[in-house]
Amino acid sequence: MKISIFGLGYVGAVSLACLARDGHQVIGVDIDATKLRLITEGKTPVVEEGMVDLMRDVAASGRVSVTTDAVEAVLGSEISLVCVGTPSAANGSQDQGAILRLAAQMGKALARKTVPHIVVFRSTLVPGTVEDVLRPIVERESGKKDGVDFHLCFQPEFLREGSSIKDYDKPPFTVVGANAEPAHEKLQALFGHLPCKYLRTSVRSAEMMKYCCNNFHALKITFANETARICGALGVDPFEVMDLVCQDTQLNISKAYLKPGFAFGGSCLPKDLRATAYLAKTRDVEIPMLASILASNEDHLELAFDKVVAAGKRKVGFVGLSFKTGTDDLRESPLVTLAEKLIGKGYELRIYDPEVHLARLLGANKSFIEQHLPHIGQMLHAELDSVVADSETLVLGSNSKAVIEALAVRLKPGQVVVDLVRAPAGALPAEQLQGLCW
Ligand SMILES: NC(=O)c1ccc[n+]([C@@H]2O[C@H](COP(=O)([O-])OP(=O)(O)OC[C@H]3O[C@@H](n4cnc5c(N)ncnc54)[C@H](O)[C@@H]3O)[C@@H](O)[C@H]2O)c1
Repeated sequence: MKISIFGLGYVGAVSLACLARDGHQVIGVDIDATKLRLITEGKTPVVEEGMVDLMRDVAASGRVSVTTDAVEAVLGSEISLVCVGTPSAANGSQDQGAILRLAAQMGKALARKTVPHIVVFRSTLVPGTVEDVLRPIVERESGKKDGVDFHLCFQPEFLREGSSIKDYDKPPFTVVGANAEPAHEKLQALFGHLPCKYLRTSVRSAEMMKYCCNNFHALKITFANETARICGALGVDPFEVMDLVCQDTQLNISKAYLKPGFAFGGSCLPKDLRATAYLAKTRDVEIPMLASILASNEDHLELAFDKVVAAGKRKVGFVGLSFKTGTDDLRESPLVTLAEKLIGKGYELRIYDPEVHLARLLGANKSFIEQHLPHIGQMLHAELDSVVADSETLVLGSNSKAVIEALAVRLKPGQVVVDLVRAPAGALPAEQLQGLCW
């Protein structure tokens, strides 16, 4: 394939070398003449394991050329990979200066192109950039249409500096956000041989997931480091602790707890986070990330409260109350806190939870609910019928299939369901559903 690569930093240079190694004809484009000269001389513009030998070999192969001319690169290739830098601006926003200039150059070059061209943005871009910011520039400068004369798509890059050639050859997956089949065909031809899944998605999801991956990596490092600080203060071996934590592949290193939903609660997570924060404080250990988890959880609860308020009705029916579907444990249930807040603001509440029977509540569970919802006896209904019939807004906090089905047949037009569990698609009328952040 004939490929042009814009931006020959870590990502672009490694891609150029690996694609040329794999037999493709590659044109490198950069505004930095030194980088272009180094590549022409068979030298690497970035320090990376394996790049010295690889650049020497691919330069000798005759499959690599360089230019500063975007028109020449676009006319000489069928696909362009854009890898220009997107650093932080002083205020923390993404500095898009280079990518904006590149989009204008790309548009001017595409104006001269007579056959459809694929443009793959590989730079990390804040969600919405390709479709809302770059597409209008490219269309304006080219006088052509995305999806017809060219195809803009986004493919996040997952290589890590220091092991980038290895990561290029063995990525965790290939994720491509594209709106058109020709883009997928071309990218599958380029990257389909790699030993990983090829995942198709929307352009926006592809942009967002790259941020999500990097944020998750930073979160994991910080989690291990804050844990180590507490361990250090307590004389516990942090390596042993984290190694043990990582050996749980059911709940820890797994998909568990990584699905968006309502705030967490229950008898363990909040109290243990509080105890951890207190312990750190007593040892003069700073753990800002762990210490802020409960505050973030409260923000999530506040969001649900705002959604109920925004529904604009005073009669609210709760479908589900315990902290988790299938249990009657009400201790620190975020649904109880939400109910408490609504009652405090004068809302009229009716509650249904098939697992919660007041007469059967015991011990700490009983005293928690007596303290937080002292009049629960008057609000709790044994049947769903009366709760749905007499409420204007419903708060869905149970993800029981049977409960959601029962709600669906009782729901009346005009009632709004604030969905905290993300009811399965089609289970409830979409026009009546108000998701928490979906
Ligand atoms: N470095 C990494 O490990 C890594 C990994 C994944 C994703 N990314 C993302 O990939 C992108 C590139 O990162 P990098 O580290 O390779 O950047 P870099 O700063 O090393 O290289 C960017 C290159 O783009 C060139 N450039 C700027 N404007 C240009 C233009 N108009 N035309 C042609 N070239 C131009 C610059 O001269 C520079 O050589 C960033 O968005 C980054 O967030 C980086």
